[in-house]
Amino acid sequence: MEQIIINGGKKLKGSVCISGAKNAALAIIPATILAEGVSTIENLPNINDIKHLVIILESLGAKCSFLNETTLKIDATNIKKYRAEGDSVRKIRASYYLLGALLSRFKAAEVEMPGGCDFGGRPTDQHEKGFKLLGATTTMSHGLIKTEALNGLQGSNILLDVVSVGATINVMLAAVLAEGSTTIENCAREPHVVDTANLLNMMGADIKGAGTNVIRINGVKKLKGVNYTIIPDQIEAGTYMIAAAITGGDITVKNIIPQHMDPLTAKLVEMGCEVFEGDDYIRVRGSENLTAANVRTLAYPGFPTDLQPQITALMATTDGIGVITESVWDNRFQYVSELNRLGANITVDGRIAVTKGPSHLTGAKVTAIDLRAGAALVLAALNAEGMTVIDKAVQVGRGYENIEQKLKGLGADITVI
Ligand code: EPU
Repeated sequence: MEQIIINGGKKLKGSVCISGAKNAALAIIPATILAEGVSTIENLPNINDIKHLVIILESLGAKCSFLNETTLKIDATNIKKYRAEGDSVRKIRASYYLLGALLSRFKAAEVEMPGGCDFGGRPTDQHEKGFKLLGATTTMSHGLIKTEALNGLQGSNILLDVVSVGATINVMLAAVLAEGSTTIENCAREPHVVDTANLLNMMGADIKGAGTNVIRINGVKKLKGVNYTIIPDQIEAGTYMIAAAITGGDITVKNIIPQHMDPLTAKLVEMGCEVFEGDDYIRVRGSENLTAANVRTLAYPGFPTDLQPQITALMATTDGIGVITESVWDNRFQYVSELNRLGANITVDGRIAVTKGPSHLTGAKVTAIDLRAGAALVLAALNAEGMTVIDKAVQVGRGYENIEQKLKGLGADITVI
């Protein structure tokens, strides 16, 4: 994907089916390495980050084959290498899960520094702290993170200093095959943490408390390969819910877990949308008279930082002053200048953005600086009068399966080049 071209101003209507969760899949695929066997993972999103991960697993010696676009069979029996390197490792953030997974299986791991979106610093000190308390030493040299447990991994009590999705999952991966019991306190509670724990438990692990802020793990000797289905993507679902709001449309977002959407649902209702919830769908009806609100991002169950750029785009088109506070990342408002190019009136001071609306957005040439920033531009372009050309659309393809077809199905005038 190089460019996305959108002729905006159409009210989107109809229904859209949500794909499997990117951030669950990116943890679950590395987790399959823990079993010397075959696992089949279903409901994977068909996106670039998954393809990179498959390339990495194959480079380690796993045999991977797609049974269809969303089902991947992974035979991890013959993995012998514990060094992950190369372009794909450097391109995605989730390659850090290879540290926990390989450390668990081989008691040693070497992984090139991961990539991913640039939100200022993305430290891994909490991952390393967890590994250290389990008995591993981590060093960094020549762009390679090395971690090894010469005397094996032993269970421990780990209190994370910050709530981190990556550290929670990585420490969980390392602890499931450690000797004895581990407690992880101040854990992340995101749905993908729970999904990863569910997979590991199905593989034979003994993990309790995932989804709360204390996870207890009793180490086991061995795990087995399994068939597992990934949960729906909370952030993709939220992006289409906001698409209904920003175009004044009426969209039913299907194949989701509505409870995962609560913080967004509450905000859309507060802004004036009508929202109807079913067992596995949410219908959002926008309106031309939405009002701005205040949003603060927080770890789950707070408002997700990965929907912050999208709700900021919406807020710019609504009446009044909206204050968006980013509590998770140091520098996640870099995309605001691109929204302003489309006519938004947004000012940023550190971790706070203020929207003054309603702004009449008009099409222009803009650049997707990262994945969710790209999603925010797509949403703004759907609202904007005239044509918007979004460069670096590859960023959007990292996280949104078939965005062209899905938006066309809702009536958008969109072309992906
Ligand atoms: N942090 C530390 N030390 C650490 C780890 C994290 O200080 O060792 C801090 C970070 O600097 C940040 C906060 O803790 O301020 C939360 O970071 P977290 O570790 O939770 O983020 P992550 O695991 O690197 C995942 C998602 C991101 C999402 C965040 C927060 C994946 C592959 N990435 O990143 O998703 O923003 O959690 O929910 O799961 C996206 O999908 O667009 C995306 C960027």
